Amino acid sequence: MSLMRQIREFPVPKKTVALWWFGQNGYIFKTPEGTLVSTDLYLSDSCAHLPVPIDLSRRVPVLIQPEELDVDVFACTHNHQDHTDPETIRRIRHKDTIAFVGPHPSCEVFLRENVEASRVAPAWPGCHLEYRDVTIDGAFALPTDDTDLNHMGFVFCFGGGPRVYVTGDTDYSDLLVSASKHKPDLIITCINGGFNNLSHWEAADLVGKIKPRAAIPCHYDMFADNQVDPRQFAASLKLKAPDVRYQQMGYGTPLLFSTEL
Ligand SMILES: [Fe+2]
Repeated sequence: MSLMRQIREFPVPKKTVALWWFGQNGYIFKTPEGTLVSTDLYLSDSCAHLPVPIDLSRRVPVLIQPEELDVDVFACTHNHQDHTDPETIRRIRHKDTIAFVGPHPSCEVFLRENVEASRVAPAWPGCHLEYRDVTIDGAFALPTDDTDLNHMGFVFCFGGGPRVYVTGDTDYSDLLVSASKHKPDLIITCINGGFNNLSHWEAADLVGKIKPRAAIPCHYDMFADNQVDPRQFAASLKLKAPDVRYQQMGYGTPLLFSTEL
């Protein structure tokens, strides 16, 4: 059975979210009612062809082809190609997805890649969106370079249960701590440190200030020239946020996260 079908059929208990990782900042979340929300799915190798002098060929296999992707909400944190990928979006067949959510530069890519205008939902830090049993609050993120000045994070609430803060790519700022007003239970944070993103140490510092129950590292694995060992984040967490559980994810295997645990 294809992974997309396994995800569609996977049962999710109440007060729980199931999540799957696809490398970099790419996730699919599933609520107890069956709503599927994705973030930053990079399902091609398009970055390998960017005119930059670093190795951006993908190292994580594509576990779901864009043609098979069938999610209810397709969200992107910013318009860098490993987060809002024109090729992935171009190849999505299920463009009857309820909403394609992201800051304006990502929305321009959605429209250019033939997403119906009525399904494109602009988002920004501070916005509040609701789809079925999911709420999305836009969170602050600090741009990492001047190629895109519209970065943001998301705080999702799934089925009235777990709240998950996805930082997206961001440089460090005390304003990131403002996401704590949404009381996230789980933080998914970049840790690579390169290209002005949070380092594992800065990410652990942020986690220690927000105090969720668990933290998942991401954005350290996709490209040869942008890698970090996630154990460094685990070690930093022990020092900066000793009460927060470190959670390592594998690719394409479900993790159940509950507010009851
Ligand atoms: Fe990135």
